[in-house]
Amino acid sequence: MPKNKNNQAIWGKRIKNKSSSLFQKIGNSIRIDKKLYKEDIAASIVHVEMLFKQKIISFKIKNKIIYGLSKIEKEITSKRFVFNEKFEDIHMNIEKRLFQIIGEDAGYVHTGRSRNDQVVTDFKIWIKLATTEIVKSLNKIIKSTIKLSEKNIYTIMPGFTHLKNAQAISFAHYLMAYVEMFNRDKRRFINNFDNLDENPLGVAALSGTSFNIDRNYTTKKLGFKKPTNNSIDTVSDRDYVLDFLFCVSVCSMHISRIAEDLIIWNSDGFKLINLSDKIVTGSSIMPQKKNPDLLEYLRGKTGNSYGNLFSMLTILKGLPLSYFKDLQDDKDLVFRSNKTLIDCLKIFDEILKNLTPNKKRMLELANSGYITATDLADYLVKNHSMSFRKAYEKTAYIVNYAEKKRKNLNQLTIQELRKVEPSLTIDVLQVFDLKNSVNSKKSFGGTSFANIKKMIIKYKKQYND
Ligand code: ARG
Repeated sequence: MPKNKNNQAIWGKRIKNKSSSLFQKIGNSIRIDKKLYKEDIAASIVHVEMLFKQKIISFKIKNKIIYGLSKIEKEITSKRFVFNEKFEDIHMNIEKRLFQIIGEDAGYVHTGRSRNDQVVTDFKIWIKLATTEIVKSLNKIIKSTIKLSEKNIYTIMPGFTHLKNAQAISFAHYLMAYVEMFNRDKRRFINNFDNLDENPLGVAALSGTSFNIDRNYTTKKLGFKKPTNNSIDTVSDRDYVLDFLFCVSVCSMHISRIAEDLIIWNSDGFKLINLSDKIVTGSSIMPQKKNPDLLEYLRGKTGNSYGNLFSMLTILKGLPLSYFKDLQDDKDLVFRSNKTLIDCLKIFDEILKNLTPNKKRMLELANSGYITATDLADYLVKNHSMSFRKAYEKTAYIVNYAEKKRKNLNQLTIQELRKVEPSLTIDVLQVFDLKNSVNSKKSFGGTSFANIKKMIIKYKKQYND
């Protein structure tokens, strides 16, 4: 049998001329997919164990291969392994090294499999682990958000629609909205496990294999729930990549929304929050500046995740079945999205710990813009037996009157109010009190203090377990 020369590509006997150095340089993916080495070795070990169990390879060869693979893992982990661009990717780099370590018996490792099923197996295992890490980071963020909420149950601020003062809310209620979002993000990531948990190993190039392999065995050993059903679909499918990139995008979008709010609230026009020196940067020319660069970084990075998602969608659009080189880019997109999200979650956690609400200014802003107008309308419905539309109309008159007199609603006298509705009694003035306003929203999910406390308790229970 001809020897597999180590300076030659695996297909060196078929393709006699060396591929162009330019193609070798740009066509290889080793710089990116070397990240998959642990998964690749683990899957190869399970694969040869299965081949032995099925009497496809001998006990001796199986052990030799496992010995070689374990040695390679140690070499890579301790950074002694020399990656070679000539061998394209992580799978071939490992196989080539295996030949160097154990000799010709290495030639048995690729029995009944192809790089096409090998790469998706490694990648799915990697994404499962990455998902677990993201979920942990989300747990951390949720805990920090709850902590800040707990301190701010009674911090009253304007709630905005269209960035105009709408109705008074508690700052904690605003923050707890993000607990809902991050909690949904978590569930979204976890939902992907259904598809990630199908084992691709053993479908080989695209049609399966004539060897009597046991896919249920590798499924169990590699921690998957079941083997994939269709060999063609298995090597062509990258839906799980899209799912992951979509989840990252939605989570980044949530972070960008809160970042944007905080940037606005930190502006000199709003001054609703203060950011500690740890999370701001200065200007090279304007000595007075403290810029919220980190928040802007978070907002900007969302563009990256969307870009990666759209790249993958575009790669897949119209791609015939089954494997094509186009698919190789999937890993770069996922690795970058994953790293960026993990960084953003860490940064965001830091921001939550270095942010203080400017309670005085929040209250002051909440007291402007006729923010209790809806409370007055509700009061008229409840106490003066009017329909809501009638009450809305009367309140609009009162707001117009206050605007003309350049007064806030809480600065109007009972006499002035009676000009619009003569039957009003003095207790109406209570509706202009912001605390009363916030606390009156007792409907489930509303901003009343008791509601917020209940939600905080509910989530604390869930997150301290
Ligand atoms: N590095 C390749 C990738 O990530 C592995 C699969 C290669 N398969 C092939 N038929 N060229 O896509």
